[in-house]
Amino acid sequence: MQNAGIAALGLDWRYLAFDVRPEELKAALEGARAMRFIGLNLTVPHKLLMHDLVDERDETARTWGAVNTVRFEARDATGEWTPLGAFATPPETDEILARGFNTDADAIVRALREDVAVEPRGARVLLLGAGGAGRTAALRLAAEGVAELWLVNRTREKAERVAAEIRARHPAVAVAVGYPREPVDLLLNATSRGLRPADGSPLDEAAFPLREAAAVYDMIYRPAETPLLRAAREAGCRAANGLGMLLYQGTKALEIWTGRPAPVAEMRRALEANIYGDTAP
Ligand code: ATR
Repeated sequence: MQNAGIAALGLDWRYLAFDVRPEELKAALEGARAMRFIGLNLTVPHKLLMHDLVDERDETARTWGAVNTVRFEARDATGEWTPLGAFATPPETDEILARGFNTDADAIVRALREDVAVEPRGARVLLLGAGGAGRTAALRLAAEGVAELWLVNRTREKAERVAAEIRARHPAVAVAVGYPREPVDLLLNATSRGLRPADGSPLDEAAFPLREAAAVYDMIYRPAETPLLRAAREAGCRAANGLGMLLYQGTKALEIWTGRPAPVAEMRRALEANIYGDTAP
């Protein structure tokens, strides 16, 4: 996805993947800084660790307490911190700043708008899952101004904890633990049930029939159609899998490094080819 985006922008850059052990993350960051890398992406379990390692954090990193994107910067001729990607040649300086961002949370909102036409503001949302992904989604949707949020989790106590956090941070949002007894604008799956071939749906359809949901978004993108998404399609809901979230966190990262709009269509094509191969949905 990133290399397709880089190529479409005509940049002489390369995006590479490295396995880094958590205890060597600091050394990896310093190595990338010394080699004048333009930036980094990080995935689990490095996002929380990198939050504490970077020199500066933008608002997204501060809000989520996690960093999935780093941009290296140097001072330009006027003394302004400037992304390394904007320099024609690596700057002659020892002073390189690592600035941390988080593009995951915004990607949820963009995917909901573009892939299932859900505007979070004022919406009624049933959210399944209260792990790391569920908590971030709940807080992001609350920050976006959803009207009502129902939280359901296999381990109820974890949903209670997320609900308490939302009541404290976003008192305007009506939050409850358990299934709604009314229709919702969105059912969002943030559990991992559906990932494995033997998995069923994370939804208890006796407690909440799918026809009561206008749209269904499953954060899982492989398999392309989980049992929940198949049932949603059969029930006539607007439905999408989590590929858009993966895509949009990546397009945003490329925009942070380049300062230019990302070539979204090219990046989506590359991502689909890579993940689904010839079985693209
Ligand atoms: P992630 O970072 O992907 O959210 P996680 O923090 O391990 O990963 O959270 C996994 C989520 O999927 C949790 O909400 C988990 O429920 P529990 O809190 O009860 O563990 C949920 N989950 C995993 N397997 C599940 C299953 N078979 N049925 C229902 N929920 C499941």
